[in-house]
Amino acid sequence: MAEKTDVNELMSICKRRGFIWPSFELYGGVAGMYDYGPTGFSLRNNIVEVWRDIYKGREGFVEIDSETVNPREVFKASGHVDEFADLITYCTKCQAPFRADHMVKDFYDNADVLTPKQLEDAFVEHKIVCPECGGKLGPVEEFNLMFKTTIGPGSARIGYLRPETAQGIFVNYLNLYRYNREKLPLGVIQTGRGYRNEIAPRQGMIRMREFNMMEVELFVDPEDKDWVRYPEIENESITLVPNTTCEPAVMTIKEAVDNGIIANKVLAYFVNTTKNFLIRLGIDPARLRFRQHLKDEMAHYAADCWDAEVLLSYGWTEITGIADRGCWDLSRHAQFSGTDLTHFKKFDEPREMEIDKIKAKHKALGPKFKGKAKDIAAAMESMSPSDIKDGKLTLSIDGEEIVLTDEFFEVSKVKEKVSGERVIPHVIEPSHGLDRIFYSLLEHAYCYDEEKGYAVLRLKPEVAPIKVGVFPLMEKDGLDDVAKEIYQKVHSHRVEAYYDGAGTIGKRYARMDEIGTPWCITVDYEYFEGGDKGTVTIRDRDSSQQKRIPAEKCSEVIDSLLSGKPFSEL
Ligand code: ATP
Ligand code: GLY
Repeated sequence: MAEKTDVNELMSICKRRGFIWPSFELYGGVAGMYDYGPTGFSLRNNIVEVWRDIYKGREGFVEIDSETVNPREVFKASGHVDEFADLITYCTKCQAPFRADHMVKDFYDNADVLTPKQLEDAFVEHKIVCPECGGKLGPVEEFNLMFKTTIGPGSARIGYLRPETAQGIFVNYLNLYRYNREKLPLGVIQTGRGYRNEIAPRQGMIRMREFNMMEVELFVDPEDKDWVRYPEIENESITLVPNTTCEPAVMTIKEAVDNGIIANKVLAYFVNTTKNFLIRLGIDPARLRFRQHLKDEMAHYAADCWDAEVLLSYGWTEITGIADRGCWDLSRHAQFSGTDLTHFKKFDEPREMEIDKIKAKHKALGPKFKGKAKDIAAAMESMSPSDIKDGKLTLSIDGEEIVLTDEFFEVSKVKEKVSGERVIPHVIEPSHGLDRIFYSLLEHAYCYDEEKGYAVLRLKPEVAPIKVGVFPLMEKDGLDDVAKEIYQKVHSHRVEAYYDGAGTIGKRYARMDEIGTPWCITVDYEYFEGGDKGTVTIRDRDSSQQKRIPAEKCSEVIDSLLSGKPFSEL
């Protein structure tokens, strides 16, 4: 049974215990901006490490880090300059801005597919006014979400803060493709900041203006949307909300693919990978589902898209989007940059195919180019129709640049034995919102312990910011020296420990429980004498059970617990 989260108490823990702090509080704060404290930063890093383990470790993808400020050309090509907008309305009385679709969300299942006119009509029909002052809402218009800047002094070159890390991978496609020895599939991951000038961020970490993403771009052969590991997962169950029924249904991945609910096996594989990733992190499987975008809800680049949604105190909330971006991004960057971004797909056997070829018009070339006509014709016929730009071919003969119009060539179909063809790779993209995952983990881990009288975060040990608290029962009589020694031995970059000697032991346990520390080691007087000499206690957060273990074995025990050994088997 899901625990009901007391969001106020959770936010109080987050602030008190160093998970997150509203940014710039000293100056009154800025909506939609948060800083991570030491505990939160550790938890966030641990989430990223699990993601790396799956994509770099298991799937063998490569990781890059690209610029966050990009020149306008990148987002003109990607479509963000023209398409990446939300609909805004301002109160005509107090001028407060609102996301227009959010104003009518109680009346529609998917208000974000409504047009500006439909939204304006909905304000009238449902008598919706400014929630701040009761004023009339004004016209609905588009508001581009990208932060604009200039690169260098003056305004010579317009730039934008990236709204997704993905474009950094697409613009590096050629480098990555060569690095991968011109082979597909090619999987690339990137984590880093994304920036969106959200209109009215009122949902805490769910809607931030500067946020963290973990994105995966998998380039595949458009005719081979399969995945080598698909057979391993095809019988796993998943809760899907297809756009045909809009109702949740539990089915196997195989059923979803065979019935055409998920478009292809590679997309299905990564929807399932996302499910397992989120559950491994600690998302409650009963509060997780995958919703398919409606046709008119899809982003400008997407051919099919599934959102991983979790049930939070805010309702069902998207934390990851898994999209089949088709050839959108590479085609657009090829077109806008004039660069060939195709993949040469070699056939197993040469095939006879009808292909477009450039043919020289010798009768026109001869009189005009005389002695050079033969060389020009040969050069032209070795070129591809994709080299024709604005109806012209440009070539170089003996250092001289020659521009030819279609007066001198034609494109015709010929049958030829070919060893392969050039295709634009398709992209499958699991795009994870790191902050939303972080927040969801906290909500799903939150549990108020009636007996103890305080809240406990039941974080999975793998992501818990601190793995073990180390305490002396009293900070005297040498107990503290032994505890400090154990702390030094246990504490490392991967196994963060926390030494605490202050206050009652109960308060120290409570502090660790509140930040989700799975185990606490306490050095008591039995360490020095009696049958238990040389031992210390280890306490399990979730059962509050305690066991005695040899002090010198603390690191070993913590390692085995972190590898999954149940506490009851110690
Ligand atoms: P929404 O519809 O909630 O605005 P989106 O569909 O625009 O989200 P995507 O463009 O698919 O989101 O972005 C990928 C992921 O990035 C999302 O699943 C989400 O987890 C995260 N994300 C997007 N916008 C924000 C934001 N403003 N603050 C925090 N995380 C965000
Ligand atoms: N890269 C996916 C998105 O930001 O929408």
